[in-house]
Amino acid sequence: MTRFDYDQKPWWGYAFNAAMDALKDAKMNIGGIDAIVFSGMSSAAGGEHQTHKVSLLSGLFKTNVPIIETPSVCGGGGAAFWTGLRLLRDQEINNVLVLAGEKLVDNRAEVTTDYILSAAERAIEQPEGLLFPAQNALVFQQYCAKYGGSHEDLELIAFKNHQNAVANPKAYYYKRPVTLEKIKESPVVAEPLRLMDCSLSVNGGAAAIISKEKTDIEIIGSGFATDYILTFEREDKTHFRATQLAAQKAFKMAGLAPQDINVAEVHDAFTSVELLSYEDLGFAAPGKGGELIRSGKINMGGTMPINPSGGLKAKGHPISATGLAQVYEITNQLRGNCGERQVKDAKIGLTHNIGGAGGSVTVHIFKKS
Ligand code: COA
Repeated sequence: MTRFDYDQKPWWGYAFNAAMDALKDAKMNIGGIDAIVFSGMSSAAGGEHQTHKVSLLSGLFKTNVPIIETPSVCGGGGAAFWTGLRLLRDQEINNVLVLAGEKLVDNRAEVTTDYILSAAERAIEQPEGLLFPAQNALVFQQYCAKYGGSHEDLELIAFKNHQNAVANPKAYYYKRPVTLEKIKESPVVAEPLRLMDCSLSVNGGAAAIISKEKTDIEIIGSGFATDYILTFEREDKTHFRATQLAAQKAFKMAGLAPQDINVAEVHDAFTSVELLSYEDLGFAAPGKGGELIRSGKINMGGTMPINPSGGLKAKGHPISATGLAQVYEITNQLRGNCGERQVKDAKIGLTHNIGGAGGSVTVHIFKKS
């Protein structure tokens, strides 16, 4: 993955740099790649409107292999990974480059927000003010009404992720610690969510090469599920059904249970989403996510650290690149390459990537061979 920041490279510049790093890591050149799966939404931004991205990527990489695009907004990286895995079932395909790159953030927050909101329901929810922070705030309000949640638990999640990012050289908040006081005092965005509950929009790219050839990292579980874009039409307004379904599929395929996971990258688009996801992924019983963060078990040094990279909150969230950055972190954790933020003896890792407010979700499980 590239460093996540506000640099102003084009989306394909981020994608290219990430792909070159992945090829170097795999000791391959582009000639060894039989297909590419790309995800990104940036070409909708900045007036570029390039809809033939697969051909642009063909020219960039000087290759004529099949290139497939899998846009799924914030869940695009995970959806590309899920698709790439299934392409490997084709006899002629042995190695797939899975790739994402985004340049959505410039210096105008309202423009960035509008790009991001093309990922939400435009006709009914947005005219009512349901931008992503408001939508997720309402979900958390419903959760609190049902289970009695508290904002203090969300503050602990933000603090954990910011502390972890301090040791991640690719994170936006690398070497920039944030105090619990600053988190508590940050301005309210949509009650009860504050600025420090929200993921940080950044630019960046990430890539992975998946192969039929056996390597040190095996992908043992893969699940994908979707849900209605109109959140009010969903039966359960306190949790994300798509996460539950994707997780069930991934755990079934892996033949494992949530307690077998040693390290996880969980999609903390908002701290409240990380909390609900503990429960949707099976790491905590419904209503008990708060107990899990308070227990310290998911902090560094705990039994199952969550978001050792700093997560979307403090590493940053470049939309489609996020899902593949999670794969990058888990791969490096299982390989023991993470230095100061290394999770000790990690053998099994999980990635959880959400598009929109729970509208498309992938879960993958990895094992060190
Ligand atoms: N966490 C920490 N700091 C943040 C931040 C965040 N989430 N968002 C912005 N900041 C900081 C900026 O770095 C900037 O700092 P600086 O003044 O030192 O440069 C400052 O706050 C103002 O940034 P700006 O972009 O103008 O903030 P904003 O008030 O317009 O937007 C949010 C803040 C929370 C509304 C916006 O970040 C947001 O909408 N985040 C969620 C994105 C999202 O929905 N993603 C998809 C998830 S499904």
